[in-house]
Amino acid sequence: MEERNPAAQRDKMQWAFLLLLAGLCSLSRAQYDEDPHWWFHYLRSQQSTYYDPYDPYPYEPYEPYPYGVEEGPAYAYGSPPPPEPRDCPQECDCPPNFPTAMYCDNRNLKYLPFVPSRMKYVYFQNNQISSIQEGVFDNATGLLWIALHGNQITSDKVGRKIFSKLRHLERLYLDHNNLTRMPGPLPRSLRELHLDHNQISRVPNNALEGLENLTALYLQHNDIQEVGSAMKGLRSLILLDLSYNHLRKVPDGLPSALEQLYLEHNNVYSVPDSYFRGSPKLLYVRLSHNSLTNNGLATNTFNSSSLLELDLSYNQLQKIPPVNTNLENLYLQGNRINGETLTKGSGEWLSVSWGGKKTLL
Ligand SMILES: *[C@@H]1O[C@H](CO)[C@@H](O)[C@H](O)[C@H]1NC(C)=O
Ligand SMILES: *[C@@H]1O[C@H](CO)[C@@H](O)[C@H](O)[C@H]1NC(C)=O
Ligand SMILES: *[C@@H]1O[C@H](CO)[C@@H](O)[C@H](O)[C@H]1NC(C)=O
Ligand SMILES: *[C@@H]1O[C@H](CO)[C@@H](O)[C@H](O)[C@H]1NC(C)=O
Repeated sequence: MEERNPAAQRDKMQWAFLLLLAGLCSLSRAQYDEDPHWWFHYLRSQQSTYYDPYDPYPYEPYEPYPYGVEEGPAYAYGSPPPPEPRDCPQECDCPPNFPTAMYCDNRNLKYLPFVPSRMKYVYFQNNQISSIQEGVFDNATGLLWIALHGNQITSDKVGRKIFSKLRHLERLYLDHNNLTRMPGPLPRSLRELHLDHNQISRVPNNALEGLENLTALYLQHNDIQEVGSAMKGLRSLILLDLSYNHLRKVPDGLPSALEQLYLEHNNVYSVPDSYFRGSPKLLYVRLSHNSLTNNGLATNTFNSSSLLELDLSYNQLQKIPPVNTNLENLYLQGNRINGETLTKGSGEWLSVSWGGKKTLL
């Protein structure tokens, strides 16, 4: 039966999207049920240290996902289920009513099975896969999502031509593996790249070249010492997470659309003057647990009008750096300001520094 009601159509889309996310984890995050900003928590939860970056939040009626999903898979209500697919690898499940998805997660696989050409969403997470052999995705050129997180993939065993043929790939989950290098070349269609919790030590300047649609890049918990100018050209990038690495310098140049920058738990000792000017939409900056001193900061480094939240806690600041008057939250605990080490909550007496209703935490 043809469904004409737009609300019902939208409902279907959302269920379809939930099914996609269900492939990555179980649907259980009830505490954000009534939170209109659940997607923000979702993004921020991806920064957290516990291992649960795939836990999706319940859908919100008009915003199923922060970056929007243009096209979900058709979830055919009412139509007869297609016959049991014969091309499904025997190690995997290919649900007949969701013909573009293949589930091969959590089953002690040591290698990747060949992916049939009709697949758009493939889930291989939490296995013991150590290599991505050349050819496995050759027929599946329509792939949109590949989940390979929670395996033991090493850089030496990733075929050079693996991803470049996947012209439509939007999400690649390679986090929680044994990668020591950036994979590549990567498809230019990528929107989300998850490479956190590996042992990547550097990001070459050309590693992310041409990824014009990349909106979120997760590189936290690696061994990265330097990123150079690799991020600069990512013109759609909204979220950059480089926390828990060994950076001594901030990246050379920030992407212009950036809204969230996470650099906590590194060894950054200075931030150049006007550093944030190139990112006029920047809202959240986390630089806690670094080696910042007042000498490493220019007068107006943090006086950037878009900033709402700035976390400078656990550094070696001795004075409060000038910030913009719109800033809502400034975190300074764990610094020795004016001779006194701030603890959480001790900021009240300092909030006069820039007046207004601001909170200092
Ligand atoms: C890959 O696609 C080709 C051409 O459509 C087909 O002949 C071949 O059987 C496919 N390979 C597998 C393993 O499905
Ligand atoms: C991946 O890293 C884990 C933890 O360090 C290690 O136990 C495992 O042997 C490594 N696997 C490979 C294939 O290198
Ligand atoms: C980027 O996204 C736009 C809009 O969705 C799309 O038209 C374009 O082809 C994408 N770019 C690449 C390189 O895939
Ligand atoms: C911050 O920047 C604004 C606008 O550029 C400027 O008017 C203000 O004086 C600056 N604040 C400090 C403390 O320098």
